[in-house]
Amino acid sequence: MALAFTSTPHHLALLLVLLLTVLSPLCFAKCHVDDEAGLLAFKSGITRDPSGMLSSWIPGTDCCSWSGLTCISNDRVTDLFLSGDTTNPNSFLTGTISPSLFIKARQLSRIFIENTNITGTLPKDIFNLPRLQFLTIRNNKLSGPLRIDISPKSDRFQSLELDGNQFTGSIPNSISQFTHLLGLYLNDNKFSGGIPYSFRQFRNMTYLRLQNNQLSGGIPNFFKSLVLRDFDISYNKLSGGIPPSFSFLAPELQFFRASHNALTGRIPDYLRNFQTLDELDLSYNRLSGPIPTTKFPVESFIGNDRLCGFPLPPCKK
Ligand SMILES: *[C@@H]1O[C@H](CO)[C@@H](O)[C@H](O)[C@H]1NC(C)=O
Ligand SMILES: *[C@@H]1O[C@H](CO)[C@@H](O)[C@H](O)[C@H]1NC(C)=O
Repeated sequence: MALAFTSTPHHLALLLVLLLTVLSPLCFAKCHVDDEAGLLAFKSGITRDPSGMLSSWIPGTDCCSWSGLTCISNDRVTDLFLSGDTTNPNSFLTGTISPSLFIKARQLSRIFIENTNITGTLPKDIFNLPRLQFLTIRNNKLSGPLRIDISPKSDRFQSLELDGNQFTGSIPNSISQFTHLLGLYLNDNKFSGGIPYSFRQFRNMTYLRLQNNQLSGGIPNFFKSLVLRDFDISYNKLSGGIPPSFSFLAPELQFFRASHNALTGRIPDYLRNFQTLDELDLSYNRLSGPIPTTKFPVESFIGNDRLCGFPLPPCKK
């Protein structure tokens, strides 16, 4: 018997065939045909890819194994991760984002596309994905208005990061339909118009970054039910005062940056109650009057001609 098993070519061939029969559903498993179609549509919207970020995206192969993609537990693509290497000048993608991606790859839940310099608009179908959880398309060159005229399907949408693009127009009120958001990063774009009052609905949001846009109007008096920890509105064109309900942020707020705007009025006395505040920047505004007792350095207050008292020079009697 032992001899019979010592490999004649026939036995080996038989073993191989058996092995392949058992393993083939694994070896040749393929991702869902809709996912493949959506991803290939995305690839065809990309006209240049000099570093080969998408070179493994080949029709007829399992798209779960393509670079940048993850399928969790079945044949559906759940994560898309494309990150340009900022130290490599050839690491970019020229082209636009095909809307077909989000119409076909319906199970996508985490989308990260960073530092790739993709242009065009953000297809609104992205907001209609039923399992959307994290959407990050940052440091690209997306432009045009941000359109969200769709009723959201996902109740676990946690984070929207579109910072470092070239979006114009106003921030749509409809963003606040995503009431579960914990973080919203729209900074470093060209958004204009006001900060939507509807943001008062973001009950659990901790990060709200709107700096480096062209936002105007006042800071809405909408903080009563908010628990922001990090709030940045610096480098905009905001005017008016710091509203009364801002005091409700006292228990949680750690970072508040509002420099380089046109804010007027006094710094409210209640700022003393912000025990957890680690960073405050009110510099380069038009604030006036005495500064309430503060632990913050002069840099937090400079550039406000009519502000006085420690750490600035004393107020004149
Ligand atoms: C992407 O765009 C930025 C801003 O225009 C530019 O500085 C950078 O060189 C571009 N990166 C690549 C890899 O083309
Ligand atoms: C906020 O978080 C709490 C606790 O996790 C949760 O019960 C509630 O539904 C959340 N609210 C929103 C609007 O996401």
